[in-house]
Amino acid sequence: DGYTAAQLFNQGICNTYDDVIFHPGHINFAANEVDLTCNVTRNIKLRVPIVSSPMDTVTETEMAITMATLGGMGFIHYNNTLEDQLAMVQRAKSHTPGFIVTPAVLGPQDPVMKLFELKNTRGFSSACVTDTGALGGKLLGIVTTRDIDFVNDRLTPISEVMTTDLITAPEGTSAETAGALLRKCKKNKLPLVNAAGELVALASRSYFRDARSFPAPGEPSLDPNGKLRVGAAVGTRDSDRDRVKALWEQARVDAVILDSSQGDSTYQVQMIKHIKAAHPGLDVIAGNVVTGAQARRLIEAGCDGLRVGMGSGSICTTQEVCAVGRGQATAVYHVARVANSLGCPIIADGGIQNSGHITKAIALGASAVMCGSLFAGTTEAPGEYFTLNGVRVKKYRGMGSLEAMAKGSETRYHSDTQSLKIAQGVSGAVKDKGSVRRTVPFLAQAVKQGFQDLGASSVAQAREMLYNGAMRMEARTSAAQAEGNVHDMVAYEKKPW
Ligand code: XMP
Repeated sequence: DGYTAAQLFNQGICNTYDDVIFHPGHINFAANEVDLTCNVTRNIKLRVPIVSSPMDTVTETEMAITMATLGGMGFIHYNNTLEDQLAMVQRAKSHTPGFIVTPAVLGPQDPVMKLFELKNTRGFSSACVTDTGALGGKLLGIVTTRDIDFVNDRLTPISEVMTTDLITAPEGTSAETAGALLRKCKKNKLPLVNAAGELVALASRSYFRDARSFPAPGEPSLDPNGKLRVGAAVGTRDSDRDRVKALWEQARVDAVILDSSQGDSTYQVQMIKHIKAAHPGLDVIAGNVVTGAQARRLIEAGCDGLRVGMGSGSICTTQEVCAVGRGQATAVYHVARVANSLGCPIIADGGIQNSGHITKAIALGASAVMCGSLFAGTTEAPGEYFTLNGVRVKKYRGMGSLEAMAKGSETRYHSDTQSLKIAQGVSGAVKDKGSVRRTVPFLAQAVKQGFQDLGASSVAQAREMLYNGAMRMEARTSAAQAEGNVHDMVAYEKKPW
C-alpha cells in the first residue's frame, strides 16, 4: 500500500512538502518519548532540530541567544561589517540565559526625551544610566518613565530625574538568584555590577514573569565550555577568510555557514578546504544544494553539514528569475540519500510554514530545518514593529532582494558588483508573531506528535524506515490537499500555538 520515498521521488516530477502525505505507522510509545536529537553538523548535536536563518531580518544576537536557549541554534547573518558580526557572536556566546540581551543604557547628560525615544522604538520604559552611556560604564542610576511623567522640559538631563537608590547584585549572580531577588525587592530591574561598580548585565522582572506563560524551554544547546551554541554565515571571498578567522579565534563560533543560493562552486570547494586546514576545530556548513551530485562534491571537499533548498523560501524568486531550483521535498530526499550515506547531516532550508513541514523534512532525511519567515516578525527578530494597514508588522526581506543587496549581501547570489543587479528575492513585512519562546517549544512538541503518528520514536528509527521502505507515502492531488486543510467552514480561528 502506498509508495516508498524512492518510488515517489523518482518519477520525473518534483514535489514539495504539501504535495506529499505519509501513511501513519504503528504507535507503541508516547509522544513525549520521541527523541528529536539531531546532528546539525558532524560534530554539533541539537535537542531541538530547528535553526534560524542567517538573514538580516531574522538572526542577530537576540534570536541566536533565544534559539540556543530553547535547544535549537541561530546563525547570525553577515550583511554587516566583520566587527559588527563578531560583536554579535561574542555577545551571544557570552550570554547567560535569563538576562536582558541588549539593555537600554543612557548617559547622565542625555535629555529625558531619549527615554521617550527608547519607549517608542524598543518598547523600553526604563534605562540604566552609566557614566559612558553604555554597558560597561560605571552605574549611576536607573531612569523610568515614572521619573519623567511630570517633566515638562524634554531637554532636562537624565541625571536630574534618575533614581540613584538602587538594588544591585554582583557580577556572576545566576539567573535563578536574580529572579528570586527581583521577586523579593519588587523592583522591575536588577543591574549586575562588577567590583569596580561597572554595569555588566541586567535582569528584568518581566523576563521571569513572562516565563510563566511560555512552555518550559528544556535544556539549552551548549558548547563543551558551557557557552550557548552560536553559528554565523560568511561568504567565499578573500575578505571572508578574515571573518572566519576572527569569528573562530575571537568568539569561538560553533559553525560557519557558507551562504550561497548555489553552493556547487569552486569558490565553496576552496573555502571549505581552506577553513578545514586553517581552523580544524570549526565546523563548516556548505550549500545551498538540491541534487545528490552537488552534495557529493561539497562533502568530498570536507564540509561538516549541508544546507538544502533553492528557491523554496517564502521571499525567494530564484526559480522565477534564474530557472533553477527544485521542489523542496524532492530536494531534501535526494540530497539526504547521498549525504546520509556519507555521514553528512543536512539542514532543510526554506519553505517551512508549519510543524507538518518540519516532520516531513526530517522524515525525508533532513537532520534539522532552517526557518526564515516562521521566525521573522517575532519579538527576537531584528528591527522595530510598525503598523501597516492596521496590522502590527516587522520587516522581512530576502537576502537577494535589492534592498538587502544595497546593504552588501549580493555575494550570496554571485552577483557581479560592477554590472546590473538582479534581485532574487523580495522585501516586505510579516505579522507580529510574538516570541519564539512560545513558537519553538510548540513546534517541537507537534513534531514529536507527528513522529508518534509515523510510528518512529527517534530520528534514527525514522531514517531506518525511510531507507528500508517501511515509511510509506503518496503524492496528494490539489483536491486532496484542499481536503487536508480546513474546509466548509464559514468562520474559524486557527491558532496552532
Ligand atoms: P523561508 O521560507 O523560511 O525561507 O522564509 C528562508 C530561506 O530562504 C533563502 N533566502 C532566499 N532565497 N532569494 C532566494 O531565492 C532571497 O532573496 C533569499 N533570502 C533568503 C535562505 O536560504 C533562507 O534560509
